[in-house]
Amino acid sequence: MPVVRLSRFRKDSATRDWISETTLRPKNLILPYFVVEGKGVNEDIKSLPGVSHLSIDRLIKDIADARKTGIRSILLFGIPKTKDTLGSLAYKKNGIIQKAVKAIKKKFGDLIVITDVCLCGYATHGHCGIPKKNTKGKIDNDATLKTLSKIALSHAEAGANIVAPSAMMDGQVKAIRETLDKNGFKDVGILAYSAKYASNFYGPFREALDSSPQSGDRKTYQMDFRNSDDALREIHQDIKEGADIIMVKPAFPYLDVIYRAKEKFNVPVAAYSVSGEYAMVKAYCNSQAVSPNPSIERDLVLEILTSIKRSGADFIITYWAKEAAKWLN
Ligand code: PBG
Repeated sequence: MPVVRLSRFRKDSATRDWISETTLRPKNLILPYFVVEGKGVNEDIKSLPGVSHLSIDRLIKDIADARKTGIRSILLFGIPKTKDTLGSLAYKKNGIIQKAVKAIKKKFGDLIVITDVCLCGYATHGHCGIPKKNTKGKIDNDATLKTLSKIALSHAEAGANIVAPSAMMDGQVKAIRETLDKNGFKDVGILAYSAKYASNFYGPFREALDSSPQSGDRKTYQMDFRNSDDALREIHQDIKEGADIIMVKPAFPYLDVIYRAKEKFNVPVAAYSVSGEYAMVKAYCNSQAVSPNPSIERDLVLEILTSIKRSGADFIITYWAKEAAKWLN
């Protein structure tokens, strides 16, 4: 018997490429942005090296660059002028996201614009839902649904293609779907943050959005990282409520959840490679641990993103979207 030569097709790069199973494309990447009020603002976010707070004029310029790399979808987070207890600037017509979406859609009609629907960046308490009085951060789930629906509707009115509720309130997809349909936005899609874990990887983002909870934590509504059956139940529920795309978040430490979700439901799956995953790799690349290697970041990032895709994600939200799209071209 001859030796089985499984490595036969690995001997040169043309053959390796020909036989490769997973193909990552720029269209699989969703580029997140942090939008602020003002003009000409382009400020580095310290906790996320390479990511900036952008005013709408600068955002438009940046999107034009991103388009050239093949990026086709973006995810918008807004930083409001002021916060209040209700997070009311999240649903105002002249809120930062509503203005940004309008300006973007005017300029880039075929760009898929996705908006984050949540309270944490807009409310003084920093929670994703409305806290009950005197409870140190216990959330009033059902009262929050109305506000989330209002936010989603205001984004749809501004021209968003897809709204992405990230608050992890029970029933948020159903509430938003009903509101959108009632108001004539049947074609606006929902990307549901279905399996969002109470993760320790969100730190740099909370600094970028100034959205850390002022009391308590998010464990009463986000998922426990010991569980994955629970994730499948959350995802199943969101699909029944009308989610078009479901999400697992974070991504890299949760590949098993992505895999199970894709296997079980076979719907479009998004994975959010979060701020801590990004910051960790950046720190590693800049650390003494690696001998100077100009392509280490590129090599690591393409390996990580391809692994997320291989595990079953169709879309990956990543702060590397623009660079990765360039590297893929
Ligand atoms: C909150 C929200 C969070 C992120 C996206 N939306 C943070 C949180 O739940 O505390 C994190 C994204 C990241 O870390 O990159 N609605």
